[in-house]
Order: sequence, then C-alpha cells, then structure tokens
Amino acid sequence: MNATGQPASPAFLIGGDLPVNRLGFGAMRITGDGIWGEPRDRAEAIRTLRRLPALGVNFIDTADSYGPRVSETIIREALLPYASDLVIATKAGLARTGPDQWTPLGRPEYLIQQAHQSLQLLGVEQIALWQLHRIDPKVPRDEQFGAIQFLLDSGLVRHAGLSEVSVDDIEAASEYFDVATVQNRYNLGDRSSEAVLDYCTDNGIGFIPWYPLAAGALARKGSVLDEIARKLGATPGQVALAWLLRKSPAMLPIPGTSNVAHLEENAAAAALVLPDTDFQALDQATRAR
Ligand SMILES: NC(=O)c1ccc[n+]([C@@H]2O[C@H](COP(=O)([O-])OP(=O)(O)OC[C@H]3O[C@@H](n4cnc5c(N)ncnc54)[C@H](OP(=O)(O)O)[C@@H]3O)[C@@H](O)[C@H]2O)c1
Repeated sequence: MNATGQPASPAFLIGGDLPVNRLGFGAMRITGDGIWGEPRDRAEAIRTLRRLPALGVNFIDTADSYGPRVSETIIREALLPYASDLVIATKAGLARTGPDQWTPLGRPEYLIQQAHQSLQLLGVEQIALWQLHRIDPKVPRDEQFGAIQFLLDSGLVRHAGLSEVSVDDIEAASEYFDVATVQNRYNLGDRSSEAVLDYCTDNGIGFIPWYPLAAGALARKGSVLDEIARKLGATPGQVALAWLLRKSPAMLPIPGTSNVAHLEENAAAAALVLPDTDFQALDQATRAR
C-alpha cells in the first residue's frame, strides 16, 4: 500500500533481481519546449518528482538527451539522497542539435562517454538500468552492443536495455549481454510493437511502453475509453494505463508529466482493476490499428 491508501502496482524484477513497482514515471517532460532547456516551472517539476515515493512510484525513466542533461540534473536536485528502493533508468544514443531534433549517434566511445556523464549528473556510482536510445544505422549494431557489454563488464551499469527495436535486434544483442528491458512506443492506439511485447513477456524482459498516453490524447475525453471510464468512476487516462498494466506482467508504463495533479491522477491507475469484459472490449476495439 502507498500513502494514498492505494496498492502500488505489482512489482517486476528488472534483470531478474531489481524490483520496481510496474507503474513508473517518465522524466522527459520536466524539460523545456521541444524537450530542450529548462522546464517552464522548475519548482513544480521538483515537487512532481518529490511526490513520487508517497505514490508508490519507484521507477523513473530519463535520458542524457532530455534537455539535454536537464532531466538528469533536476532528478538529482529533487531526490538525492536517493531512497534505497528507487530505480533510475537512463539512456544514451541520441545527439541533440536543437529543440525537437534527435539524431542517432552510436559510436561506442560516445555511448561510453555519455554513460559516464549520466553517472556524474545523477550522482550515482552505478546506473541501475542503462538503455541504448536508438540503434544508430550508421554504425554496425554489433559495435553498439559491444559498448553495452563493456558498460556492464566494467560495472558502470547494472542492467542494460534497448529502445525502438525488433525481435531480431533483441536476439542479436542477446549474443553480447542479457537484455533486461525494451522500450518501444506502445499504447491503446498504437499496437505496432505487439510481437516485441509478446517476446518480452515470454522471456522475462521488461517492456517499457513509451508514449503510454499518446502524449495526453488518451487522457482527454472523447475517445473509445470514455464509456468504460465513466462506468468505473475513473478518467480515460487511468483506464488507458490500467489496460497496459493488465496486458502483460512484463509491462512497465512510464507516463510523463510536469505537474503534481497529473502525476497523482496517473499513479492512481495502479489501483484500478479493469474487469475482463472491459479489458477485452478495449483490446478488440484497438487491435486492428
Ligand atoms: N525511448 C524513446 O524513444 C522515448 C521517446 C519518447 C518518450 N520516452 C519516455 O517515455 C515517457 C512517456 O512518453 P511521453 O511523455 O512522450 O508521452 P505520454 O506519457 O503518453 O504523455 C505525456 C504528455 O501527456 C500529458 N499528460 C500526462 N498525464 C496527463 C493527464 N493525467 N492528463 C492530461 N494530460 C496528461 C503531459 O502533459 P503535462 O506535463 O501537462 O501533464 C505530457 O505532455 C517519457 O517521459 C520518456 O521517459 C521514450
């Protein structure tokens, strides 16, 4: 149970040994427009992060490129010294050349440099979960996987994951290291990573669906979620998150927000029980998309 009296979302063991409550927090939105620079309301971003423990949220996803460096810096400022059960996952592999500009950059020396930078900015001795943000098509993927193997072998990171990958990529990476998590875009309206989700579920790999609320569209009224939300006394966004949590025991949604009110609404979805009929109705209604 957490401080709001709601049971925390059931735990998942990342890499088989690192427990997290399954409903996490995405820290991309605590930055400026275009995920660039400082957030409009820095004090509210800090309040949002500091509210996480009381809501039973102990899994934060960030990246070197959010800001860049802004998200990791604010997390440290808000939460250091870190609670012993807090797991902060970060990523690297996307260079930032301006607002809304993201360019894959997967040279091994760059990935290793950015992992060192994340250690410094977050103020930790080891990164609990480090993820390759994108496989850079200009660099052989084996070289990028080799860099991840180095990060693990040297103890800079405890577990490693991938982002925006296929089943073939996961299997190729598994030749180099144990893939602990996969972070692909997935939500009720975008099921294109269904095969990857099934693979992760079958192999005990955490599946982190980014864009779980379709950037807020699924939290607004007027969608297929409305009727079920009304019946359950919940909001459409909470139903969208509860559907994800029911979809797979390996599902680790990371809804992102820059304010406490939205965080509280999202976190309460961990306690929302979606009846079988509603789960199946939503599954069917959105499967073909
Ligand atoms: N691996 C990748 O390539 C990748 C790509 C993108 C994102 N990510 C990760 O995934 C996380 C989530 O993705 P996302 O932020 O793009 O999408 P999201 O979580 O689906 O949506 C976030 C947006 O929805 C709004 N929102 C959140 N809760 C709301 C609520 N209860 N009511 C109304 N609006 C609400 C937020 O605005 P407010 O701030 O106003 O609440 C924000 O603009 C990110 O934080 C990041 O950690 C990973």
